Amino acid sequence: MGVWASPEFDDHEQVCFFTDPQSGLRAIVAIHSTTLGPAAGGTRFKAYETDQRALDDALRLSRAMSYKAALAGLPIGGGKSVIIGDPALIKTRPLLHAYGRFIDRIGRTYATGEDVGMSVADIDTVSEVTPYVGGTSRGAGDPSVHTATGVVHGLHAVVEHRFGRSTFEGMRVAIQGLGAVGWGVAERLHAAGARLIVADIRPDVVERAQAQFGAQAADAADIHRADADIFSPCALGGVITVRTAGEIRAAAVAGAANNQLETPEAGTALAGRGILFAPDYVLNAGGIISGLEAMTRMPGRRAVALVPLEDRLAAIHDRLAAIFDRAAGEGRPPEVTAETMARELIGR
Ligand code: NAI
Repeated sequence: MGVWASPEFDDHEQVCFFTDPQSGLRAIVAIHSTTLGPAAGGTRFKAYETDQRALDDALRLSRAMSYKAALAGLPIGGGKSVIIGDPALIKTRPLLHAYGRFIDRIGRTYATGEDVGMSVADIDTVSEVTPYVGGTSRGAGDPSVHTATGVVHGLHAVVEHRFGRSTFEGMRVAIQGLGAVGWGVAERLHAAGARLIVADIRPDVVERAQAQFGAQAADAADIHRADADIFSPCALGGVITVRTAGEIRAAAVAGAANNQLETPEAGTALAGRGILFAPDYVLNAGGIISGLEAMTRMPGRRAVALVPLEDRLAAIHDRLAAIFDRAAGEGRPPEVTAETMARELIGR
């Protein structure tokens, strides 16, 4: 297993491997950049096919966190942890405590929180042994509420840039995934006058959206093809492939799901068809933005002057609008321009 040889290695500042044989813990923490401040990034607890895949995931996701925090204007760097193994089989209190003790050692440069396979209760358990965790039940509360608010601010920029409009009135938005974030987005768009098309693998939430929002139901496998103005992926990563990009009928793709573009070519395919893509890590930064207060209160951390949370979330609109304008000026897809802007901000 190689760090420096990994295709995902991007001059990461630090990569830590933590092992606790007694509890069965094997964890990797990748810190991509601390140029703007101590790094932050959630903990993904997952059974990986190989250790190299786990390492690659930590390297890739930590770089994405650097970009997300930088473009959200936060004094935070990018990092990410993975705990290797099936959480249903190996997640125990002693393991989470062993993990927390390791995080405590590197807490001056990294703090963590939830991600796939980790619940708020798990984060509470980790927080029993280290202060370097955010998203506990005593903290900022459910980040998905703030993520949904931020996504809708971003969607405003999409509506202005792609459709030359200032409201959602009558806009048709196809939302894939009505979970914590997708439901919040649906609620806000419905209240703003949008017409919704929805899909989820859980029939109960789809029925609820039909009843509550008058939404039209679509097949989960086909919603990207819906006759909509905007396609909003709020479930899974990798939904935009070269194939699906060719099938999308919407004029814009903008949603909460992380890593929506399966490959850079999928982004190029969207751009080639004149479909505006809103880089996901810009749109979905509301969660990390809401966690800033908690991070600045951690031991040894610098106090920063905080503008109100609502203003920080609203800034997602301005940032996205700036990315769209610059991308149009450069003749490049927005995700390429966003990456360039993020790298400029972190001095790369
Ligand atoms: P969630 O787990 O609450 O909701 C996901 C929803 O998608 C569920 O209702 C699930 O049934 C549905 N789903 C799963 N597979 C599907 C499929 N094939 N087709 C249609 N629906 C499907 O997750 P949450 O928190 O709402 O997050 C959604 C996305 O946003 C994820 O990609 C997540 O990584 C991303 N995100 C979430 C943030 C947060 O604050 N929760 C922050 C940043 C990104």
